[in-house]
Parts: sequence; C-alpha cells; structure tokens
Amino acid sequence: MAAKSPRHPEPPSLPVRDDDDPGLRVSGPPGARDIRHAGDDELGAVMAEALTFEGRVDRATHGFHTYPAGMHPDAAKVIIAACPGAVHDPFCGGGTVLLEAMLAGRKASGTDLSPIASLVTKARTADPALATPLRAASRRLAELARTTRSPVEVPEACRDWYEPHVAEEIGHLRDGIRAEDATVQPLLWAVLSSIVIKASYRESDTSNRKSPVHRPPGTTAILFHKKARELGRMIEGLPSGAEVLTRLDDARVCPPPPHTSLVLTSPPYPGVYDYLPMQQLRYAWLGIEPPGRAFSAEVGSRRSFRAKGRAEAFRDWREDTDRWIATQSQGLRRNGLMVVNVGDGLVGGRLVDALSPTVQAMRKAGLEIVARASADRPDHARNAVRIEHMVMGRKP
Ligand SMILES: C[S@@+](CC[C@H](N)C(=O)[O-])C[C@H]1O[C@@H](n2cnc3c(N)ncnc32)[C@H](O)[C@@H]1O
Repeated sequence: MAAKSPRHPEPPSLPVRDDDDPGLRVSGPPGARDIRHAGDDELGAVMAEALTFEGRVDRATHGFHTYPAGMHPDAAKVIIAACPGAVHDPFCGGGTVLLEAMLAGRKASGTDLSPIASLVTKARTADPALATPLRAASRRLAELARTTRSPVEVPEACRDWYEPHVAEEIGHLRDGIRAEDATVQPLLWAVLSSIVIKASYRESDTSNRKSPVHRPPGTTAILFHKKARELGRMIEGLPSGAEVLTRLDDARVCPPPPHTSLVLTSPPYPGVYDYLPMQQLRYAWLGIEPPGRAFSAEVGSRRSFRAKGRAEAFRDWREDTDRWIATQSQGLRRNGLMVVNVGDGLVGGRLVDALSPTVQAMRKAGLEIVARASADRPDHARNAVRIEHMVMGRKP
C-alpha cells in the first residue's frame, strides 16, 4: 500500500496519559486488546495491525539470537510494505527492522551503541555464501572443545557463572575462533554469543538472577555446533548482495543516510532496561572492551532512573527523545516517513506515558503527524495494562 498524501491536518486525539497518571488497569487475557487508530485511515490501520502481532517468528534469521524488546518481525514487515524506499533504524538492536527491510528488497541501515547489537544484526543479515565455511569451522571447533582437556583462561567476570567444565568448553571455543579465518569469524562470535547466557547460571538476558543448571560435559560444544548449523541453514535462505549498513553510533547525533525514506524504530522505553551492562558475560567471553563511553549515552536506562531519581531521569529521557527525533528527521528525505513504536515506561514500579513526549518531539522536529495506533497489553507481572503505540510522522 502506498502512503497517502498528507491531507489529514490533525488526527483525532487518543487518550494520552500524563506521566503523573499511570492509569493502571486490571489485566485481562493475554495479547493486544482494544486496538484503536486515528489519523490517516489506511496507514493507521496498518499500524493497528502491526500492534496485533505476537509470538515467536521463525522466518529467515529471526529466531537465531535473543535480543530484548525486539520489534515484532511481522510488525516491521507490514509497516515496511506500506512505506516505500530505503529504511533506517537508529536503535537497531538485534536487527529485526534491517532484516525485514532486506527481505523486502530495500536498502537498509541502522545504528546502535551496543557492540552485541551490531554483531547480532550483522549475523542476521549475513552473506549466504558464508554458510558453508561457517558449518565447517564450527564442526572443527566443537570437536576440539569437546575433546580438549587442558586448562583455559576464564575471564574474571565469568568465573561465578558457569560449571567449571562448561567454562572450559566455552574457553576452548573462544580460543579456536580467534584462530579462524577473518571472513567467518564474526559469524562464529555471534554463534558463541548466542549460547553463553543459555549455558550459564544466569536466568535470562534481562535478569541476572542465578538459577543453577547442570549441563553434562560436551553438551556446550554440541550446542555451539547446533546453533552454527542452524544459522548456516537460515542465512542460506537470505538474498545475496543485499545492502545493509550498520554502525556503532549514537542515534541522538548520527543521522540516517541521505536517501532514507523511512525511519522505523523502537527506541528504549524510559527506565525499563539497561541494554549495555546486561551484556557483560558476552563482552567478557568475546573479548569486547565494555563500551564505557556508550554507557553514558544510553537513552532511558533503568540505572539512570535509579541514580538520578524519577523526575530528573525522565527529563533527560525527554531531552534525548527530542534530540534523536530531530537528528533522524533532519536526515529524512522530503515526504519521508518516521514510524516510532513506543510503549509505557516503568519508573519506580509505576507505568509512565511515553507517547505524548514522542508526539511532541516529532512535532518540534517539523514532522506532521499522519496517524497513530495504540493497543492495551496485559502486564501479568504487575497486574496492570501497558499501552503500546505506533506513531507515524511525515517530513513536509
Ligand atoms: C528497544 S531496543 C531496540 C530493539 C530493536 N528494535 C530490535 O528489534 O531488536 C533499544 C536499543 O537502543 C539502543 N540504544 C540505547 N541508547 C542508544 C543511543 N543513544 N544510540 C543508539 N542506540 C541506543 C540499545 O542498545 C538497544 O539495542
């Protein structure tokens, strides 16, 4: 569907909550409910549809590596299909938007501060020609790690997080990857990255609670080989020669490439995650220097809300929102579209509205609001309902 011309001066207003009014409601059955849209009918309906998707998607490389708070692949797919041209995601995370743009035959680009985001995005959009060398190298490395019984260096940050034989197998895999050919190394690092949380005592990517698990000897090396074969199979189905550019950079200052027609992104919600520190086990195993300067550039981090308090950290998040939206909108071409997927933040156990600051920032940046859609999503952990939104602006 092509974008309609901007004949809609002002969409009818949706209920927008003030950040002092968390507006909690009792949760109901799972899934998006009460989906509504306003503004341009067709584009509003596309965004409303985007909010209905849930559950796992195994298409292409989507299922390869966990990444917190990813946009739903089908949401990215329907929005890209409705908006022509080159696509840019300034907070690209695990690369969902870039992969969908690539699958739709579009030019795709993205930035993120996290080296793990960059590694995962590159692996998920890799050249299919790398599938065969990936499989061969991973078979060799897994066999070596499974059978070698010699001491190996385990990074300090990882010592309490693994059974000794598991740490040893991962250490041997890491040492083997260092000696592999440079063309296939990034994919091997991405495969190692995909298993180091699962093999640890850590509950998940987003929780550093310990839950002891036992992995029989040899099974970590086998898991590595299995994940590498899985990635090989997945990338074989990707288009070759696709143009996907990723950069480690700050969305507040790094504009999209000049040809960009669609900025599609899900920025960090205020106070929900610490995207950069949560990757500490991966930095340690992959020999990545934790990106110190980037830590302070992270938008909306949970730790900033803890350290500064709710009012100051929320003010910072609003200023950062103004900055990244202004930078991205400056780089958009005329008539280009920006679609922002944003939801309630979580501050001091209370939900806060992130929609109104986002809409205000888009207007300040000179974008016309074309349409928006919202859906209620039950948050069972807090017995509450979080509201998720898609907002579309057009550069006049
Ligand atoms: C909600 S996640 C994006 C998830 C992504 N849409 C996906 O589908 O995987 C937000 C991302 O913003 C990144 N981030 C936070 N502050 C940033 C900044 N100033 N510039 C660029 N990226 C930033 C985090 O590292 C994280 O990957």
